[in-house]
Amino acid sequence: MSRPIRLALLGCGTVGAEVVRLLHDQAADLTARVGAPLSIVGIAVRRLGRDRGRLPVDPALFTTDALGLAKRDDVDVVVEVVGGVEPARTWLVEALRSGKSVVTANKALLAEEGGTLHDAAAEGGADLYFEAAVAGAIPLLRPLRESLHGDRIVRVTGIVNGTTNFVLSSMDSSGAGYAEALEEATELGYAEADPTADVEGFDAAAKAAILASLAFHTRVRAGDVYREGITEVSAADVASAKEMGCTIKLLCLAERSGEGAERGISVRVHPAMIPRSHPLASVGDAFNAVFVEAEAAGQLMFYGRGAGGAPTASAVLGDLVAVARNRLSGSRAAGESNYAALRIRPMGEVQTRYQIRLEVSDRAGVLAAVAGVFAQHDVSIATVRQSGRGADATLFIVTHTAPDAALAATVEQLRRLDIVRSIASVLRVEGE
Ligand code: NDP
Ligand code: HSE
Repeated sequence: MSRPIRLALLGCGTVGAEVVRLLHDQAADLTARVGAPLSIVGIAVRRLGRDRGRLPVDPALFTTDALGLAKRDDVDVVVEVVGGVEPARTWLVEALRSGKSVVTANKALLAEEGGTLHDAAAEGGADLYFEAAVAGAIPLLRPLRESLHGDRIVRVTGIVNGTTNFVLSSMDSSGAGYAEALEEATELGYAEADPTADVEGFDAAAKAAILASLAFHTRVRAGDVYREGITEVSAADVASAKEMGCTIKLLCLAERSGEGAERGISVRVHPAMIPRSHPLASVGDAFNAVFVEAEAAGQLMFYGRGAGGAPTASAVLGDLVAVARNRLSGSRAAGESNYAALRIRPMGEVQTRYQIRLEVSDRAGVLAAVAGVFAQHDVSIATVRQSGRGADATLFIVTHTAPDAALAATVEQLRRLDIVRSIASVLRVEGE
């Protein structure tokens, strides 16, 4: 048996406490799998006096000096489950440059400073693993990073935020309004105390950036991701999607398009209508799922719990076993692959489809005037449906695919037409 692999745990909250429990409860199995015991030599937290329940760990290991712990000579691997960009970036860069391997669940940091961390890992000859950063327990990044490296990924479509999926699923199943559904998500402990990052799509955008970087061998940062949240999705939108055999999901979409000099990728997060027959439509509650399409492999679906202490800790432990084995064998996993450096298309260039709900006056010539606006922007209409009559008429128009800029310009011009009383909603349509 080799000497223990010595771990510095930065953070001991929802995820960190479960990492401690799993390391304790599964110590014998983990030792057998790695070939050496995994031993925590220090735990950095913000508040030493915080009640941590009956954690199976020596209280003397706790410190508030995360940087000091990450730099200690007797540390082999740093596990970061604190979150946020700084000071986590400083701790991990220091650790990686000095040759310590890092396992992190920090999506915000990876989406902002992933390149900096990968460069530091290459400099220090260390491993950087981050399976838990996207979709919690679901083994997803390792398949993208390793199993699918012989293939060409075309598209990644995912539900990667549990809170918003819970809200949209309960709006769909019970007819609840947005505020009511979010309140329930908060009561059940899915949403953060401040759910802004969830409902405004920032959390999903960070995960989209990480997924796109791995899928397309290109550095993508959170700021490169087009983002819309779910705050504008109404009960009426959900009901009208239902009437069309669809449901609304907050999707993350990363896709490759074009050839030669035209090659590029698009990465976006926004609510979209998808048909109920689509594999992602049945993903309910706070679950996550990611649908990967690759040229040779075809369609692959990854599904499971995307959040929570124990599921996320499971992914952290999987990474820990991998880096510990690498340290024992004196090897290192392949580093970042960013050779493709594909152009990231602005949202205006992306081919999308819209469903537009218009309140109009029901009189002769209205439809022709509305259709004329679509024609002016070269946007082809797929279906038109009317409900109500007279002053209460509503038109539901679904387009064929067109550049998002043309669709947005069409909506703007429709808004200015006298015969259009209001644009009740605009939703993108995906997955058909
Ligand atoms: P928590 O807020 O529950 O825990 C954060 C921990 O970090 C706490 O132990 C806190 O100390 C400690 N901490 C905060 N600031 C400092 C500091 N300056 N120095 C030292 N320690 C500090 O977060 P989570 O466990 O929920 O999340 C951790 C990471 O995992 C984040 O990156 C998150 O995005 C990611 N993640 C979380 C998931 C989840 O379901 N919770 C799912 C997937 C990823 P103290 O205990 O004293 O407050
Ligand atoms: N707030 C996130 C979610 C946690 O709801 O999915 C997991 O990253």
